[in-house]
Amino acid sequence: MTTIDSAKANLSGRSFLTLKDFSEKEIHYLIELAGYLKSMKKAGIPHRYLSGQNIALLFEKPSTRTRCAFTVACSDLGAHAEYLGKHDIQLGKKESVRDTAAVLGRMFDGIEFRGFHHETVEELAAHAGVPVWNGLTDQYHPTQVLADFLTIKEQIGKLKGVKLVFTGDGRNNVANSLLIGGAKIGMDIRICTPKELFPSKEIITYATEEAQQSGGNIMVTEKIADAVPGADVIYTDVWVSMGEEEKFAERIAQLLPYQVNRKMVETSGNDHLVFLHCLPAFHDLHTQVGKDVHQKFGITEMEVTDEVFQSKHSFVFDQAENRLHTIKALMAATNGKD
Ligand code: CP
Repeated sequence: MTTIDSAKANLSGRSFLTLKDFSEKEIHYLIELAGYLKSMKKAGIPHRYLSGQNIALLFEKPSTRTRCAFTVACSDLGAHAEYLGKHDIQLGKKESVRDTAAVLGRMFDGIEFRGFHHETVEELAAHAGVPVWNGLTDQYHPTQVLADFLTIKEQIGKLKGVKLVFTGDGRNNVANSLLIGGAKIGMDIRICTPKELFPSKEIITYATEEAQQSGGNIMVTEKIADAVPGADVIYTDVWVSMGEEEKFAERIAQLLPYQVNRKMVETSGNDHLVFLHCLPAFHDLHTQVGKDVHQKFGITEMEVTDEVFQSKHSFVFDQAENRLHTIKALMAATNGKD
């Protein structure tokens, strides 16, 4: 990389399955590199660090941002992206994940995987012989959190000490990844959710130990009054993740008090509060699911009100754009040639 000191981190050939895989210094390096690649893209300067490479994009679940970010990042980096959807290959059905990994590793220079079981991406990484990047599993969504960190750095100017409240399903893949990544880089991460949706003990223990090393802080609470005052960032996600569609009634009952609305924004006491959401979001009735939920449960908005989503606090589309720049940095750092 020309203006980035690549000695800061040697990520070459490494996979990225969770934020546990990279150190604090390596995460900062990726965010810095993403900002640099973003400025190159805006200036129209070519940055074909993966020139001539072939990248496999495996998707068991649907995606807008992750698929498009990997595809456009490949194109900008000079690589060819090959999309392989759930009906295109035999992954785990007529061919084992291990054998599929070995075959793809002979043909491709890197593999992205989005799917259900985290064990699948671990198996791919163990047997592909090329870098494997986790584009979301039921347990983790690490590339999302790289984009979140870039967005926070752009809006607040730093990451260390930033108070981020995640409100919603505190056990989902985004919450898990924010806890791990935020703890590693010294943020003050507050998971605000009902007791029955607290993150696992294993993740809380890991994050607490990391926070002790980095000077960060971890709070897991069901009390909005403990988590939200003084927040720099409020972050939420859908209440029902992909594959859990039968849970709408239960989650609406549990999480309606944790909706990000005007009252919660005011509770932060921060006029410069940043609102983030990994998207897609249920903030109005312009989706089929939103209409179905309205018909069944009588609510017009779920995890965030349209008022907050459209407000000056909302940086959700910067955050979505930053998926591109951070995924590009990840691929360039782990697979790129200087
Ligand atoms: N945030 C996110 O992962 O979006 P997609 O599901 O559209 O990829």
